[in-house]
Amino acid sequence: MRLLIRGARVVDPAGGLDAPLDILTDNGKIARLGADLAADGAQVLDAIGLVAAPGLVDLHVHLRQPGFEDKETVATGCAAAAKGGVTTLVAMPNTRPAADCPDIVRLVRDKAAPTGVNVLPAGAVTVGQKGERLTDFAALKAAGVPALTDDGVPIQNLALLRRAMQEAKRLDLPLLDHCEDRDMVQNYAVNEGDVSRQLGLPGRPAIAEELQIMRDVMLAEDTGAHVHICHISTAKGVDIVRQAKARGVPVTCETCPQYFTLTQEEVLRQGTMARVNPPLRTQADVDGIRAGLLDGTIDAIVTDHAPHTAQEKARPLPDAPSGMVGLETSLALALTGLYHTGLLPLARVLALMSASPAALLGLPKGTLEVGRDADLVLFDPEEEWTIDKEQFVSKGRNTPFHGRTVRGRVKYTISQGKIIYMEG
Ligand code: DOR
Ligand code: ZN
Repeated sequence: MRLLIRGARVVDPAGGLDAPLDILTDNGKIARLGADLAADGAQVLDAIGLVAAPGLVDLHVHLRQPGFEDKETVATGCAAAAKGGVTTLVAMPNTRPAADCPDIVRLVRDKAAPTGVNVLPAGAVTVGQKGERLTDFAALKAAGVPALTDDGVPIQNLALLRRAMQEAKRLDLPLLDHCEDRDMVQNYAVNEGDVSRQLGLPGRPAIAEELQIMRDVMLAEDTGAHVHICHISTAKGVDIVRQAKARGVPVTCETCPQYFTLTQEEVLRQGTMARVNPPLRTQADVDGIRAGLLDGTIDAIVTDHAPHTAQEKARPLPDAPSGMVGLETSLALALTGLYHTGLLPLARVLALMSASPAALLGLPKGTLEVGRDADLVLFDPEEEWTIDKEQFVSKGRNTPFHGRTVRGRVKYTISQGKIIYMEG
């Protein structure tokens, strides 16, 4: 099967390429890039006016299967990914049962196979994500996990965490850490600050995240393990990573569109829709996240796509689960908040969503180099549209971005040479 993508502006940040070119795929691979390529019997896709970029690589997605199929399934989550331009994703292990053994890893991968989205299930660090006993890292690695994480449940036991890092280092597996001190954040709903005080609720303080980032940076320095900080949300947190990188600590980090777009005040307007862990913070934090994206401290933009049911999100703020969906809106929000504002060049935004996260896990993805998998997103960088949660293909409708007008729209998603999403 051959596909000729004609007339797109081809942006491949890894190769430093930004030019109007045709792309020919053959047998799932990028076969040629060039001007006026001949069709030669290939299926032709007219991409004039569109940007063609590497398919997005999302390091942080909750697919919910097994165990929480009322929130999402692998199939619906992958459909949402395809609609958002995501061709590779890392699935978080906080399912029921947790992905703490090869069987669950394989189950998730098997469910994903027919979707065309390349799903890499991460393995849990501790059995059942209980923070008590380490899982069998070697067995998980043999089953193909790209990384280990107890995301959703911060690891409190430092002796255990240090041993996890030593073992992860030995096996060359990154640890993806959800940083928030559990004793400090409990099950609180919002950032500790003006909004929590106004609501009369206890809050999740920024220091709860920053202390664990500091702790994990120091343990990474001590053990030599690659520690990746998940969904960083505070200015000081970014600063800690910045300083650690400057002294050569093997630490990387990610953030999400909500953390460079929204502040804690969103909770006053939208209640549980704006409840997420870590919580939305202050404008100074939003500015700090943007600064970290600008100077390269932050390595990746991910979604932390966390679907919940309407019934769950209809509970009172203190009782509703945390999380927001993101797969179908992340590219548009990144383009709107970072590119159309003039903060970052287009290639840089795309690198943060493809080449850089792929490199961080050592995946042969995130580039349009000849010979690589033909994973692409084709999008109109200028089209304005209004986010409508009723149009989502995810089972999750829990977004704080419903009704927001954004700029940049996915038209086609191609995975290994196959069109897995097409608008309309
Ligand atoms: O808001 C969140 N929701 N943060 C997490 O870390 C976990 C996630 C979930 O699984 O719902
Ligand atoms: Zn998390």
